[in-house]
Amino acid sequence: MESLALYIHWPFCLAKCPYCDFNSHVRERIDQTRFARALRRELAWEAARLGRRRLTSIFFGGGTPSLMDPGTVAALIADARHLFDADGDIEVTLEANPTSVEADRLQEFATAGVNRISIGVQSLNAEDLARLGRQHSPAQAVAALETARLIFPRLSFDLIYARPGQTMPAWRGELRQALALAADHLSLYQLTIEPGTAYEALHRQGAIVLPDDETAAELYDATAEEAARFGLQPYEISNYAVPGSESRHNLAYWRYGDYAGIGPGAHGRLTLNGALIATRRHRAPEPWAIRVEEHGHGSTAEEIIQGRDRTREMLLMGLRLAEGIDAARFAGRTKSPILDAIDPDTLARAVDAGYIDWNGICLRATSEGRKRLDSLLTALVR
Ligand SMILES: C[S@@+](CC[C@H](N)C(=O)[O-])C[C@H]1O[C@@H](n2cnc3c(N)ncnc32)[C@H](O)[C@@H]1O
Ligand code: SF4
Repeated sequence: MESLALYIHWPFCLAKCPYCDFNSHVRERIDQTRFARALRRELAWEAARLGRRRLTSIFFGGGTPSLMDPGTVAALIADARHLFDADGDIEVTLEANPTSVEADRLQEFATAGVNRISIGVQSLNAEDLARLGRQHSPAQAVAALETARLIFPRLSFDLIYARPGQTMPAWRGELRQALALAADHLSLYQLTIEPGTAYEALHRQGAIVLPDDETAAELYDATAEEAARFGLQPYEISNYAVPGSESRHNLAYWRYGDYAGIGPGAHGRLTLNGALIATRRHRAPEPWAIRVEEHGHGSTAEEIIQGRDRTREMLLMGLRLAEGIDAARFAGRTKSPILDAIDPDTLARAVDAGYIDWNGICLRATSEGRKRLDSLLTALVR
């Protein structure tokens, strides 16, 4: 039976960042007790149908889960440990924003059982932080990182680059400063314009201009080069780690393992009675809570993922990883040989061009391939 990764979504933020399309909402007052109860209830409901799976990781994502009461985090971790067979060294990550309110509570999250923290720094430059609509200053980000380093055995932080007007020397300088503060993991995302965000409107009006593809590729190369100097290897398109410190939780997604998603808008992929099921919860927090209160869960319609949909998903996920996809695992998980899922002519051309490696055991996108993964996948995946 597949092991399990558990994702828990906290859907609230202090403010909505103009680039962000995550399921996050701003409320004057949050009924912490109500949402804690609903999350615990939905977790129990999901566990009842899953049975005692081996649990390898828990990830509190958002939104801003560092706004949760630490007592709620502790209760959810204790519930998960009770409902599943938790690994002795289970990875428990919480995303935190670096405002002072949240930094002050880091110790309480560690006491609650969190052993890995992921901080949303985004930039170390004051003007860009303001443009990104962030609620923290560079000094607060640095202070949060320094505090977190003393408390958590594992620490990651996020930066967004390829920002409008960002020059190569400016990004290299900022990244070097960040790398000096880094521990074992970093997530370095190129800014994307997401539908429905305030940035999308500005982009349409021409007020935000993103770097062209060539500049973005140069920025990507420079990013990997700087990270490598600090011993951080790119193991996924946007994620860098000291070997052995990769996020186990995120690896479970990219390796197309089973994961349960609890909370508003959370997705899951679960093996149930031999079928692979896509689960999804209601996105809006209050209607989700009402459903949990009435039915024990806030699920919307679930569907079985099979055939082409399943092979596609596994390829799209696995080729993001530097390690690629193990062909035997692919066949086991999708019931289809990997070569049946890809176009043979495109594969031959992509191998010749140095974008894909294929040795009969493992299919992987090279670093050149990962840089142009979207167009590669469009051509490759049947
Ligand atoms: C769930 S979000 C944020 C977690 C936390 N609330 C925060 O803001 O620090 C995870 C990460 O996705 C990244 N992100 C969100 N929207 C993005 C976008 N449009 N382009 C690039 N990165 C983005 C940010 O780096 C963010 O920290
Ligand atoms: S980036 Fe983080 S803080 Fe900003 S709106 Fe998205 S989830 Fe909330």
